Amino acid sequence: MKHTKASALVLAIAVSLMAAAKDKPLYLDTTKPLEERVEDALSRMTTADKIKIIHAQSKFCSSGVPSLGIPELWTTDGPHGIRPEVKWDEWHQAGWTNDSCVAFPALTCLAATWNPEMAHLYGVSIGEEARFRGKDVLLGPGCNIYRTPLNGRNFEYLGEDPYLAGEMVSEYVRGVQENGVAACVKHYALNNNEHWRSNTNVIVDDRALYEIYLPAFKAAVQKGGAWAIMGAYNLYDNQHLCHNDRLLNKILKGEWGFDGAVISDWGGVHDTREAITNGMDLEFGTWTDGLHEGASNAYDSYYLALPYLELINKGEFGTDELDDKARRVLRLMMRTAMDSSKGLGEMCSPAHYEAARRIGDEGIVLLRNEGGILPLGGDKSMKILVVGENALKKMTVGGGSSSLKAQREISPIDGLRAAAEGMATIDFARGYVGDITGSYNGVVTGQNLEDNRSPRELIDEAVAKAADADCVIFIGGLNKSDGQDAEGCDRTTYALPYGQDDVITALAKANPNLVVVNISGNAVAMPWADKVPAIVQAWFIGSEAGNAIADVIFGKVNPSGKLPFSFPVKLEDVGAHSFGTEGYPGIKRDGVDLWDINYKEGVLVGYRWLDTKKIKPRFAFGHGLSYTDFKLGKLTADRTEMDADGNITLSIDVTNTGSRPGAEVVQLYISENKPVVLRPAKELKGFRKVALQPGETKTVTFTITKEALSYFDADAHRWVAKPGQFTAHAGTASDDIRSSLRFKLR
Ligand code: BGC
Repeated sequence: MKHTKASALVLAIAVSLMAAAKDKPLYLDTTKPLEERVEDALSRMTTADKIKIIHAQSKFCSSGVPSLGIPELWTTDGPHGIRPEVKWDEWHQAGWTNDSCVAFPALTCLAATWNPEMAHLYGVSIGEEARFRGKDVLLGPGCNIYRTPLNGRNFEYLGEDPYLAGEMVSEYVRGVQENGVAACVKHYALNNNEHWRSNTNVIVDDRALYEIYLPAFKAAVQKGGAWAIMGAYNLYDNQHLCHNDRLLNKILKGEWGFDGAVISDWGGVHDTREAITNGMDLEFGTWTDGLHEGASNAYDSYYLALPYLELINKGEFGTDELDDKARRVLRLMMRTAMDSSKGLGEMCSPAHYEAARRIGDEGIVLLRNEGGILPLGGDKSMKILVVGENALKKMTVGGGSSSLKAQREISPIDGLRAAAEGMATIDFARGYVGDITGSYNGVVTGQNLEDNRSPRELIDEAVAKAADADCVIFIGGLNKSDGQDAEGCDRTTYALPYGQDDVITALAKANPNLVVVNISGNAVAMPWADKVPAIVQAWFIGSEAGNAIADVIFGKVNPSGKLPFSFPVKLEDVGAHSFGTEGYPGIKRDGVDLWDINYKEGVLVGYRWLDTKKIKPRFAFGHGLSYTDFKLGKLTADRTEMDADGNITLSIDVTNTGSRPGAEVVQLYISENKPVVLRPAKELKGFRKVALQPGETKTVTFTITKEALSYFDADAHRWVAKPGQFTAHAGTASDDIRSSLRFKLR
C-alpha cells in the first residue's frame, strides 16, 4: 500500500514536472531561435512593461520584467577593467571589499600592439572579469578617432587610423561577447574631444564621416557583431548623438543593419520626442534629483519613462517605436543576462595578469635607441638612477569613468627594482612634482607623493645623482588628472606639464646615457628628443605597468609596439589645429550655449595630413624600433591588373637579420596615382605582425579588393574606385616604406 502511494506521488511529480517543462514559455526556451523568443516575450508585455525596460533603474542597472522572470540588465565600465561597485543612486563607492579587478593596459597600448590576437585576448579576459562580477554589458571598447593630441580621452581609444582601429575593435568585441557579455562600443560617433563635449556640434563632410570617423564603428558592428553601442555626448547635424536620426536610424540601424541596442551615454539624452523617434533604445545616467524631492522612484522621470508613457496615452505616439526599442533591449537581454549557457567567468586570475602583461609587453613602443643603449643589463655593478614622478605614481585611479580599483598595480620603479635585482643598483630622485593627488569617487591610491621642495632643488638633486650614475631613466609624461589624460576636459597644451622639459634637458647634459620613458595616452611635444639617446612610449599599462616596462628596459622582451598615432613636432602640424579655433575647439554660436567645431581637414587626419602636406613628424604613425633588425624583401603581386570585382595578392618577405628573436609589423599602404578627388598620400589597408627567430624569413601576403582602393563619393553616396593606376607600399612605419609596386585597376 505504502509502495503504491509513493509510486503515485512520484508519478504525480513527474507529470507536473513534464507539464511545467511543456508550459515553459517560448521566450525562455534557449533552443528556440532568438527572434521567436523576442517576439514571444514582447507579446506578453504590457506597454508599461516595455517602458520599464528602456531606461535605467539605478546608476548602472536597468529593469527586467519581474512578473515574466526577465532579469535586470547590469552594465559596468569599461574599457580597461571592471569598475568598482557604486551605490544604487550615487557615484560614490558602495564599499564592497571584493570588487577589485585586474587593470588591463589602456586601449592606446592595445592599439600599439598592432596585433588583433592581443585584442581578442583582451576582450576574452575582461569579459571573464565582467561575467564573474555578474555584469551583462561592458561599457567599452571606445574607438573614436584620434583627431587632436589635446583630446583628454584619447587613451581610451585605438588611435588615428580607421583600419587599424577597426581590426582591433572587432576582435576585442568578439572576445568579450564569447562570455555572454555584450560589448557596448562607444562613443558613437564624432566625439573626438572632451572640451564642451555636451555642447559641441560637429560639422564634418560626408567623405570624412564615412572614410575616417565611421569605419571602426562599422567594423565593431559588422565584423565584431557588437550587441550594443553607446551614443556620444556631443551633437552632429544639430542633434545630440544619443538621439540623432542620421547616425542612429539611417546609418547604424539602416545602412549597417545593427540589430542591437543603442544605449545612451550617461546623461546623453535631452529630449523625449527626439529619443522616441531618433534611435535611442536604452536611457542611462540622466540627471535627476527625484529622490531628494520625494518621488517614489527618481528614474520614473527619465525621458524614456513616464514622460514617454504620457505621450502614448495622449495619443501623440503609437507603440511602433516602443516595440522596436523593447525588441532591441530584449535581444540584448537574451544574448546576455538570459543566456543560461554562459560561463561563470573569473576574476584576478593568473591568466588575466599574464594577459595584461603580454599586452603591455607588446604595446610598449621603442621610439629611439641611438647607439643601442637599450636594453640595459649585463653589467652587475651598473648604477641606474630613476627620475620622475611617474616612476612612482599609480595610474589606474583617475581619468574619469575608466578609473579602477586594481587588486594590484606594479609601479615602474617597483618593476624596475624587482627586475634589476642582482643585475644593477637603482637609486631614485623625484625630479619634479606634478599632481600628488590619487583619488576618484572614493577610491584612493593611498600613496603619499607630497614633496615640498622647489623645482630648482629637485632638478639640482637629480642632476647631482645623474652625474654619478651609469645610466639615467627619466619616467614622466602625463597622468590621469583633469587637463591631462582624463575624461571631461582636454589638455590645454601639447607640452609636457610640470616643467618636465627642464628636468629632461638638465639630465641630458648631466649624463649622456639618458632614457626617457613617456607615460601617456597622447602624443606630447619632445623638444629635447635629439639630445636623448633612448625614448620609450609606455602608455598607461595598468596592473602590470612596472613589470612590462622593466621587461623592455632590461631586454627580457624585445619591443614590437608601433605607434597607433603620429607624434607631430608641434601642435600646429596637426590638421585639426591648422584652421584656428574653427577647427578646434570650435566657435560659439550667438545667443546659445553651443559651439560649432568644423572638421575642416576633412579626410586628412593624422598621418594622412602629415604625409599629404609633407610635414615631417617627430615620430610617425606605425613607427617602433626593435632590439633586432628586420629586412623586407621586394613587394610582388600575383598580377599587374585587377578587375573591379577581383582582387590582387601582394607578397613580401621579412627576415630577422639581427641576433635576437623579435617581431615586426609589416604595414601595407595604398595610394592612387592620379586621383580625380583629393586623396591622402597613402592609407593603411593591411598589416601583419610576424614573429621571427634570428635568421628566419617569412612571407607575408595581403589580398586586397576594390574596397581598399575606394573613396566615398558623397554626392553619389557610395564607395567608388576609379579605374587607373595605384601604388602599394610595404614598410615598417608610415615613414619607412621599403618596397612599392604599381598595379592597375581595370
Ligand atoms: C562616459 C562613458 C561611461 C559612462 C558611465 C560617461 O560619463 O562618457 O564612457 O561609460 O559615463 O560611467
